[in-house]
Amino acid sequence: MKYNIGLSIYLLTAIFQGCDKPQEKKEIMDKARDFHSYAIPSEARVKHLNWDVSVDFDNQTIAGTADWEIEKTPNAQAIHFDTRYLTIKRVTDQAGDDLDHTLAEDQGYMGSDLKISLKENTTRVIIEYATQAVAPALQWLNPTQTLGKNAPFLFTQSQAILARSWIPCQDSPGIRFTYNAQVKVPDGLMAVMSAENPREKMAGGKYVFNMPQPIPSYLMALAVGDFEFGEVGPRTAIYAEKGMLEKALWEFTDMENMLIAAEELYGPYAWDRYDLIVLPPSFPFGGMENPRITFATPTVVAGDRSLTSLVAHELAHSWSGNVVTNSNWNDFWLNEGFTVYFERRIMEALYGADYAEMLAALGFNDLKNQVDELGAESPDTHLQLNLKDRDPDEGMTDIAYEKGYFFLREIEGRVGREKFDQFLRNYFELYAFKPMDTEMFLEYLNKELGIPSTISAPSPNDWVFGPGIPMMEFKPSSERFARVRTQAEQFSLNGEVDETQAENWTTVEWLEFLHLIPDSLNADQINILDSKFELSQSGNSEIFFAWMKKLIRSEHDQCLDRLGKFLTSVGRRKFILPLFEELVAKEKYSEWALETYKIARSNYHSVTYNSVDALFEEKGLAIS
Ligand code: BES
Ligand code: ZN
Repeated sequence: MKYNIGLSIYLLTAIFQGCDKPQEKKEIMDKARDFHSYAIPSEARVKHLNWDVSVDFDNQTIAGTADWEIEKTPNAQAIHFDTRYLTIKRVTDQAGDDLDHTLAEDQGYMGSDLKISLKENTTRVIIEYATQAVAPALQWLNPTQTLGKNAPFLFTQSQAILARSWIPCQDSPGIRFTYNAQVKVPDGLMAVMSAENPREKMAGGKYVFNMPQPIPSYLMALAVGDFEFGEVGPRTAIYAEKGMLEKALWEFTDMENMLIAAEELYGPYAWDRYDLIVLPPSFPFGGMENPRITFATPTVVAGDRSLTSLVAHELAHSWSGNVVTNSNWNDFWLNEGFTVYFERRIMEALYGADYAEMLAALGFNDLKNQVDELGAESPDTHLQLNLKDRDPDEGMTDIAYEKGYFFLREIEGRVGREKFDQFLRNYFELYAFKPMDTEMFLEYLNKELGIPSTISAPSPNDWVFGPGIPMMEFKPSSERFARVRTQAEQFSLNGEVDETQAENWTTVEWLEFLHLIPDSLNADQINILDSKFELSQSGNSEIFFAWMKKLIRSEHDQCLDRLGKFLTSVGRRKFILPLFEELVAKEKYSEWALETYKIARSNYHSVTYNSVDALFEEKGLAIS
């Protein structure tokens, strides 16, 4: 039990002994602490949560108690929690005696430091509190915003630092805790958490949850609504609203096979079951790897199983991220880069190397676009970020995902797959349920694979601490994409596409084609693609999104109708933000964009509307 505190004190002492200058000490201290949390875990930290709340849709609040078991050094005077927009009613200890506490002023995305005084014998702090309607992690949906239109829906999104807006917690990815929960919801609704989950609705809306493996706060999750359970395999299932369940079961029929493939690659699954809930379309992300139950957007239920790499991705996080976790958000690439690598290995195991190579090639397009957007010399193109005094959301770009992926792919290429797989298996085992940072990883890499000696330039340091895209030896290559390129070149030149080829293209080939043709097209080019292949009618969200971007660039006014429907019904930021960016970049569409946004905004989760608000503000367009 004392292990963690003992260890951090030991590490800090060891570090301090090696340096005398105050400035150096301060920098080390800064590094050792996660500056996106007020917690000081080396003094006092949480170990277990007993959460007892009720969910009130009428008042849009979750209220109850967070009863935390804590661990502290003998002379710790206080424990710090992160909170944001929480109403703190009372704080007591295990004996029910009041504990003095102060709630500091709100500091924007950081929220308010809740400092609770400790007595020598304090083992638990029990915080009675309520969330506020503005809690950025929570999205409260009216029945009309769901598929069934009959019942309200609530879901949470905690990553990166939003958990503090629905639970007072030590909101740092390096601090893990187990939990159990009693959650009361309106009768007739179902509730699931990142924990052992029910399969049926409970009488009186009373649910109990248990999460026996320790998790960081950003993996706390709750969804409440009128949804059902459908089995996929012995360890896998889908939760979804009635009208979505059958479609989703068909779409994700390979979930169990993905789980088996993942275990064959990198060792036993640590979380018992792997389920997935399909949320309403306002969910701001593609997917979120909440342990035991991935939260997913319905926009990947394409009807042809073409977007299921998202499931492979969230499943892969069950190792990279949920078992070995970035210790702070500067090292976000350790979560996402490893996960993209693992995701593509799962896809390769199930659907072959050709398919995985095409996914990698699309990833490379994303990487180049992202580097262009940020600037090749931008420090935000480093794998290790510097997010001090910035909202961690700013660091969540494709760099972590795709530059991270290509770095690992280069290592694999150079040391060979067998050695690299063994390395990853050992890594997941050795560091299970522990925080990881970039320096630790590089040291381990060097120790296990003899890097940098095996790797000549560019070295791991160039990848991790340097900008842009280092020289690569193992770029993706795909014959099918080579044929798509020929078509794209021909189309760009004279507006022709070989129908016999294009008719057989899968989603990834269409995405590559759309990537390769010019951003702005003439009316003939648009009409050819739309009349022959009905891209504007595509039910595939990725194709529709890529196509709409072109149509806006091309000032093809006829697209506004369908675009308006999409923008007001879907809330996934990855689609919504770039589409509004394209729109406001065009003088002739900025008014329409603003009017559409005014209608759409109330459908969006805070993650999405905060980003879009910032865009409109930047353009000097007033939302209200
Ligand atoms: N963990 C991320 C989502 C996330 C990242 C939420 C940062 C909040 C802050 C998740 O695993 C993810 O990467 N989702 C992607 C889909 C994936 C297939 C690349 C998404 O939502 O687009
Ligand atoms: Zn991810």
